[in-house]
Amino acid sequence: MLIVANWKAYVEDIKKAKSLVATSKKLARTTDVSVVLAPPSPLLGILAEKNKSKVAFSAQDVSVTTGGAQTGEATAQAYAAAGATYAIIGHSERRAKGDTNELISQKLAHAIAHGLTPILCIGEQERDGEGRYLSVVREEITLAIESLMPKERAKVIIAYEPLWAIGKTAAEAITSADLGEMVLYIRKVLAELLPGKSSGHSLVLYGGSVEPGNIRPLAGSSGVDGFLVGHASVDPAAFSLIVKNLI
Ligand code: 13P
Repeated sequence: MLIVANWKAYVEDIKKAKSLVATSKKLARTTDVSVVLAPPSPLLGILAEKNKSKVAFSAQDVSVTTGGAQTGEATAQAYAAAGATYAIIGHSERRAKGDTNELISQKLAHAIAHGLTPILCIGEQERDGEGRYLSVVREEITLAIESLMPKERAKVIIAYEPLWAIGKTAAEAITSADLGEMVLYIRKVLAELLPGKSSGHSLVLYGGSVEPGNIRPLAGSSGVDGFLVGHASVDPAAFSLIVKNLI
């Protein structure tokens, strides 16, 4: 199982960040869960420097530019130099600030070109009775990865994060049955876009109000490969319980 802790902008001081890293390193040492931390970018370089632990680091986004006269941009290359090995791309909170499917596709290409494993966030705004949310999911995956080469497409991790489930509580998150259906659907879409049987190796994660109280049922029978955790990932006790409840 892969657990990605998306700290968003919740962590703003280095002491708190270092203590969360220490908690995660212990969890990674004592369980077989793979832990990836996505701190705010100014902190990432400090935390990931000379990292030799089992914990990996992720950018929360990468710039659509590749460097040069671009004030304020943090490129995939700079993230890789700072010690990141993953990059979250297309998070709904970035889409809300203007990331289109086209920009997201370019960001995926930059991330892959610099050796970062992209975690592509997709997910519908709301669930309708006619299944239109399935077309949203299909379109977001297709438009993001279709311009990549087949072997690049196979590197993309899909994180299904329905907007209606983000930032709530475990009780309002998706049910295990609905998640299981969506995971199957995503694998079907990937099978159409990836060569041969390679989509069988693609990882599919879920994010949206993952907490200690719902991690077990969600992991149980849904077929998901891991989770993208937001608010609960910056609470050391909750994050520890999430990881421990997985084993
Ligand atoms: P929450 O876990 O706070 O709902 O956030 C989910 C998310 O957006 C992770 O990327």
